[in-house]
Amino acid sequence: MSSGSKIAVIGCGYVGLVTGICFAELGNQVTCIDIDKDKVAALSKGTLPIYEAGLQEILKRNLINRQLSFTSDYSKTVKESEVIFVAVGTPSSPIKGADLSQVEEAIEDVLLLDFDDEKIVAMKSTVPVGTGERFTNLFKRKRRNLSYVSNPEFLREGSAVDDFLNPHRIVIGSVNPGASQRVANLHQPFQAPIIFTSTSSAEMIKYASNAFLATKISFINEIANLCDHVDADVKVVAEGMSLDPRIGPHFLGAGIGYGGFCFPKDILALKQLAGNSGYHFQLLSAVIEVNEMQKTLVIRKLKKYLGDLEDKVIAVLGLSFKPGTDDVRQSVAIDLIHLLQFEGADVKAFDPLAVSNAKRILKDVEFSKDAYDAATKADALVIATEDPAHQELDWTKIVGLMQTPLIIDGRNLLSGEQMPENVTLEQIGRPPRISDQVSWLQKKQVLEKYNSKINERANDQIDADFSR
Ligand code: UDX
Repeated sequence: MSSGSKIAVIGCGYVGLVTGICFAELGNQVTCIDIDKDKVAALSKGTLPIYEAGLQEILKRNLINRQLSFTSDYSKTVKESEVIFVAVGTPSSPIKGADLSQVEEAIEDVLLLDFDDEKIVAMKSTVPVGTGERFTNLFKRKRRNLSYVSNPEFLREGSAVDDFLNPHRIVIGSVNPGASQRVANLHQPFQAPIIFTSTSSAEMIKYASNAFLATKISFINEIANLCDHVDADVKVVAEGMSLDPRIGPHFLGAGIGYGGFCFPKDILALKQLAGNSGYHFQLLSAVIEVNEMQKTLVIRKLKKYLGDLEDKVIAVLGLSFKPGTDDVRQSVAIDLIHLLQFEGADVKAFDPLAVSNAKRILKDVEFSKDAYDAATKADALVIATEDPAHQELDWTKIVGLMQTPLIIDGRNLLSGEQMPENVTLEQIGRPPRISDQVSWLQKKQVLEKYNSKINERANDQIDADFSR
């Protein structure tokens, strides 16, 4: 089964669509199933419900080639397929860690069908460790000619097509070596290392990878916060660390925290899984806590200069959880806007891809047509996503349009040199550049902060003298 296999993909979300469309591109006959008939109709005409770089062209090409189709009809598609990928959502669940109802429904629907030939259910959805074993036993109990394979995905939104076609590793977990090999054959064109293991280990590889990456982010964010206290520059620190091959250069970008549909959900699920297994995973609690605190950093930095944020106009660049995607689920930028509104600020926001998704979540935000429009008359501007396009903006023009030249670069994208003289630039874990032209209000805030520090010290001194 090296190519030309008949594949069904259940679920037309990010993972399902990238998996289905890319497997069709590799020469397989793929049918993607979704219960949402409108989505199926749109996809059949070549319209994607999401933005993902490069996916649109591959979709169109494979619809024309008839390698790919979309349907809501489970029965015909599943009966005709050799491998059925399950790629439905597994949202957070407070008790179980992950809500498996969509996965269970998909598997029940497969089990309802009559077929004699051997089929493989390959799990792409991120499911708690132990789920594969449970389904393997279920298939055995029901005496069905079905094999279960855990085949987690490691796609990043924004570069998912490239990640799918150039994977670093393929993970395959099953008790059935024949089924594992058949799933491995589907991945043969990639020449990536393949790890054959148990379903539980495969499931754990996915959780552990995401948790480790999130740990790296929270770690560098803690270092950044310390750099703020001791006048060091986290960008240089990260560069110095990254040259050690044991550390490496990736995921050392300090900022205002991680977001997205995977990290927050999967890290909570792993913590819950540990708890349910009687193990207290201390490190994960800290990773989550650091991330939550990091989201409030911008507010503290703004207050340092502007004091009370009531009625202040704050421009936010970036709404998605990271650049190159229209996905705003668990976006730190959205959390930040909620915090700003809680403080009474008026928010203007710009994002090149995510405005229509953000409009469904945010209220009372002025959505700007570009960064210049957002900056106009703003008391401060915040960079919330690490979009390299922000670096290319005309910052002299932006600063000229602002009410007060205060920029909080929440992703450490800008360099002091590219900024005009009169700007005050605050980054994360980097010495701030406070211009001479900060308004009297900002100066007053800084003065008040120092005065209160001096008072604190004086009080400490009085206490010390008193207790002598
Ligand atoms: C992640 C994993 O990378 C991927 O392997 C898995 O399959 C799904 O979850 P994704 O959610 O697309 O992918 O985003 P990713 O690029 O990993 O970034 C996640 C978050 O971390 C973003 O909010 C990003 O802004 C933040 N981040 C990333 C940092 O704050 N600093 C960094 O150095 C890197």
